[in-house]
Amino acid sequence: MNTAISAIYYVEAPDKCDLDLIDPRANIDYFDPGLTFAGEGKNLRLRCEPGELIMFPGWLKHTVPFFADDGVRISMS
Ligand SMILES: [Fe+2]
Repeated sequence: MNTAISAIYYVEAPDKCDLDLIDPRANIDYFDPGLTFAGEGKNLRLRCEPGELIMFPGWLKHTVPFFADDGVRISMS
């Protein structure tokens, strides 16, 4: 992936918007970003509010949990 920064803007949701960030470095031996973070190789769930802009390193894997509410969830990435 050649993306320096990934960004998600949460436009609308009936409640919080969960975002899972997954550190891929534990499974990639050859990738060395030159940085060391506490909790390297760990996963993190962010609880975001509509109206928030979330930015993170482009190499960080990410996903959202299944959405089953009757309302709408709109985000731009
Ligand atoms: Fe994405």
